[in-house]
Amino acid sequence: MASLHLEHLTKTFGNQTVTRNVSLSVEDGAFCVFVGPSGCGKSTLLRLIAGLEEASSGRIMVADRDVTKVPAYDRDLAMVFQSYALYPHMTVRDNIAFSLRTAKRPEDEVAAKIAEAARILKLEDLLDRKPAQLSGGQRQRVAIGRAIVKQPKLFLFDEPLSNLDAELRVHMRVEIARLHRDLGTTVIYVTHDQVEAMTLATKIVVLRAGEVEQVGSPLQLFDDPDNIFVAGFIGSPQMNFFKAKHQGGRLFATDFPDQSCQAPALSAALAEGQDVTVGLRPQFMGLEGNASLELMIEVVEHLGSETLVHARPPGSAQMMTALVADGRNLAPGQAFVARFDPDRLMVFDATGKRLR
Ligand SMILES: Nc1ncnc2c1ncn2[C@@H]1O[C@H](COP(=O)(O)OP(=O)(O)OP(=O)(O)O)[C@@H](O)[C@H]1O
Ligand SMILES: [Mg+2]
Repeated sequence: MASLHLEHLTKTFGNQTVTRNVSLSVEDGAFCVFVGPSGCGKSTLLRLIAGLEEASSGRIMVADRDVTKVPAYDRDLAMVFQSYALYPHMTVRDNIAFSLRTAKRPEDEVAAKIAEAARILKLEDLLDRKPAQLSGGQRQRVAIGRAIVKQPKLFLFDEPLSNLDAELRVHMRVEIARLHRDLGTTVIYVTHDQVEAMTLATKIVVLRAGEVEQVGSPLQLFDDPDNIFVAGFIGSPQMNFFKAKHQGGRLFATDFPDQSCQAPALSAALAEGQDVTVGLRPQFMGLEGNASLELMIEVVEHLGSETLVHARPPGSAQMMTALVADGRNLAPGQAFVARFDPDRLMVFDATGKRLR
């Protein structure tokens, strides 16, 4: 188990800066998730920590040891890749044992560690099979087993669930959460799936174009995002945004003819006539509240326990999504007055920074 500290870490490939001045502290035993859109540098950051890429500048500390120049094999980490990377000609047992045998560990220790990993990952009955005889989820468990037997200081996962179907993904997500709880090892986990990030993480790092946008617990990022990017990335369905002008304590929607609502209470002063972007989460639009938007329903998705309403203001092409508890009677073509508490609105300035 170990803490991880990144100090001003930068990585360039040619003239492209892929990781820019990243500083981050991950405490011992944390489950830290790197999340962000494709190409934002998540895998590169993980590979820098693993020692598979060399940092252009900055420092990497694992358990207070500077490992910036230490080769990958000597960093005491184990990495699980999206592609599993199992040896196809070897049995599950031999795949799991591989790193121990390369390290010339005694056979009785190897056998004990295989048995322990197989028990934790419920692989006992599969040890003599080859990878081709396994399901995707079973292969994923073997890949994790290979990491567990190394008893690393840090587990590094790069999108380990993205090859699995939706049901298996949910199942493996729970397995990984339980594994973390049982082993207590610090985990760094890369995903572009914000639901995975929200459900697994104790700490989320939102990355964009190689830079850290915000770090916080899942609910901190959901409740209190610093900017439009984080507000739009965290939360499902995505936050609704609309442009507005502030006038006399009200926000006049720029693109929705004749619609306005009370501005939320902010400690930052909104200037008269200031152009802002307003954010409103689908979860906070419903049948109650002092403010409202008048919408026309286009599509209704009944999810069983709740309903997703896709609607747009008359005279505007912009879709808004509401998530309502009791939407059984809603249908396309109907008018829908989406009510909300104005203090649920988030306001962002022209640069995308949140005004609080
Ligand atoms: N070895 C390399 N040489 C040059 N450019 C690279 C190299 N590896 C990655 N990049 C570039 O760095 C950027 C970040 O890549 P990275 O793989 O870290 O993104 P990612 O966030 O993991 O994306 P994804 O979600 O698609 O896996 C991309 O623009 C990519 O093209
Ligand atoms: Mg990647």
